[in-house]
Amino acid sequence: MKTPAWLSQTHAPFLWEVFQLLLGSHKDKTSLYRSLAQGRTTVLEIGCSTGITASAFQKLPGIRYTGIDIDSSVIGYAKKKFRKRPNFDFVCEDLRSFTERKHGYDLVLFAGILHHVDDALGIELLRASTSLVDGQGTLAVIEPLFDARDRGFNRLWLKYLEKGEHVRTNDQMKELFDRAGLHVRSERQVMMGQTSLPLPKDARFGVYELANP
Ligand SMILES: C[S@@+](CC[C@H](N)C(=O)[O-])C[C@H]1O[C@@H](n2cnc3c(N)ncnc32)[C@H](O)[C@@H]1O
Repeated sequence: MKTPAWLSQTHAPFLWEVFQLLLGSHKDKTSLYRSLAQGRTTVLEIGCSTGITASAFQKLPGIRYTGIDIDSSVIGYAKKKFRKRPNFDFVCEDLRSFTERKHGYDLVLFAGILHHVDDALGIELLRASTSLVDGQGTLAVIEPLFDARDRGFNRLWLKYLEKGEHVRTNDQMKELFDRAGLHVRSERQVMMGQTSLPLPKDARFGVYELANP
C-alpha cells in the first residue's frame, strides 16, 4: 500500500497498523488466514510485519506460530505485542537464510509479498518457502490480483494507493508458480472489503495452495 515514509511500518509501526486496520482488508484477511490454519499445529508466516495478521491465529487451540520478517522494527513491535503468548514467536530474518534451519511447518503462509518483488526474486522466495513446508503441509500464497474487468474503488486503489509495483493477474501468478517448479493444488479468487464494513467487497485476492514438490 502506498503510504508516506512517516507512516511506513518501519518508522511508525503503530500508526501503520492503525492504517491497515482501517483500510487494509484486515477483517477479511484475518478470517481467510484463520480458515487456512484450521486443524494445523505449526504455522509459519513469512513477512509477518507487526504481527497484524498473527491475531488471526490467537484463538486456534494448540497452535504454534512463528512469524519472520526482515524488518527489525516491526519484529520488535510484534514481540512486545505478543509477549504474554509463549506459543507466538517472532524472528527477524530474511526468508532466504531462515530456510537453512530446515523446519517443517504444517502451514507456511506467504501473503502480500510477491506484488512487491519482480519475477526473479519472487521465484527465489517461493522456492525458499517450499523447503520450510512439512511433507504433508501446505504453502499458501495470498496476493492481490489485477483483473481488467474490475472497476470502482479497487481500480483506483491499485492505481493510486497500492505501493507494490508487481501486482499480477491470475494467469501471471500461475506462470510464476510454474517457473518456480511448484504444483498448484488449489486456486481460487476471493473478493475482500478494504474496510471492515460488510460492503463493498471489491478487492480481488488470489488464494493458492501449493504442494511441496
Ligand atoms: C505487505 S507485508 C505483508 C503483511 C502480512 N503478511 C499481510 O498479509 O498483510 C510484506 C512483508 O514482507 C516482508 N519481507 C519482504 N521480503 C522479505 C524476506 N526476504 N524475508 C522476510 N520478510 C520479507 C516485509 O518486510 C513486509 O513486512
